[in-house]
Amino acid sequence: MPAPISLDDHEALARTVLDDNAWAYFAGGAADEICMAANRQAWNALRLLPRVLRPTAGGHTRVELLGRTLAHPILLAPVAYQRMAHPDGELATAVAASAQEAGFVLSTQSSLLLETVARAVRDDADRGPMWMQLYLQHDAGFNRELVQRAEAAGYEALVLTVDAPCHGARDRERRADFHLPPGISAVNLATLPPRTAPVLRPGNSALFDDLLHIAPTWDDIARLQAQTRLPVILKGILHPDDARQAAHLQVGGIIVSNHGGRTLDSAPPTAELLPRIADVLAGHLPMLVDGGIRRGTDVLKAMALGASAVLVGRPYIFGLANAGAQGVAHVIRLLRDELEIAMALCGVTTLDDLPDDLLI
Ligand code: FNR
Repeated sequence: MPAPISLDDHEALARTVLDDNAWAYFAGGAADEICMAANRQAWNALRLLPRVLRPTAGGHTRVELLGRTLAHPILLAPVAYQRMAHPDGELATAVAASAQEAGFVLSTQSSLLLETVARAVRDDADRGPMWMQLYLQHDAGFNRELVQRAEAAGYEALVLTVDAPCHGARDRERRADFHLPPGISAVNLATLPPRTAPVLRPGNSALFDDLLHIAPTWDDIARLQAQTRLPVILKGILHPDDARQAAHLQVGGIIVSNHGGRTLDSAPPTAELLPRIADVLAGHLPMLVDGGIRRGTDVLKAMALGASAVLVGRPYIFGLANAGAQGVAHVIRLLRDELEIAMALCGVTTLDDLPDDLLI
């Protein structure tokens, strides 16, 4: 197969590198994968209307986010169990992100310790933001400890994922009989005390009468904010009223996301909801977005719809599978180069003040 020159090329190459088990996990979505496909279709359906003969020399991709200036608005979304894609796992991802001045979000279900990953890059001069994603667990003491560990390791924000109170219906994984290979686990959860499940009576539901008792609610947000000096970013907001509620709680930001189509199938694509959420937030809160972003033009479209930055998930995992840290770096570089080309061809020089008529 020729060397990859696009994110889709990386995906095609990764299919030849990953076994069926890992492929089902990394590439799949929920159920019929309607949401996963719709994410991409929604970006594709938007059109950029270029302006010509404008001076664009001296343009740049820099953006401001949570008090920092970033070289560009591309971050790596939290993805679990990365050692299943490549032996270097999350370490390679963090190093590549740093080299490409991209932010990254480490998953709670990282296959390497959060301290190991942070130590490798936290003192790099030009690295992007280093954030830690949280899935709240059933043990409040453990959650507090995890937050303290993230703070001590140097993470700069906590990303609380709110769209996965339970697993989606992952047909692809079930068909492939997905299992974590030996030696790969959520090492940051190793000290989590076991949970004793209640005995369910006939007619009760394992989901509603057991598992969902530990799913986070709005009350947990203020509690988490009180436990940490770090900004709390909510990942997985789709309804404008939820965005309003997040703003009311003065969270650090939100990520408009449907988990890459892995949770609720038939959830709307993020590109469709972004304008409505932008209206609600009116610039008062950083608004990031992910789901199906595969081209620099998609990044520019997201920014034109009011995003503060974007995240990509699967594409960098495919880069990781293909060539470790170099593969991840290549994916970020491709996307950034494409973003610059799209900006130049649209006649825009910066991302912070994109014209309203850029999109039709
Ligand atoms: C994810 N995602 C995810 N999100 C999260 O908050 N915590 C996690 O541990 C994971 N794990 C995870 C594993 C895999 C294999 C995938 C593909 C995704 C969701 C991820 O952060 C992001 O929202 C989507 O991947 C974005 O969509 P694209 O770019 O993959 O289309």
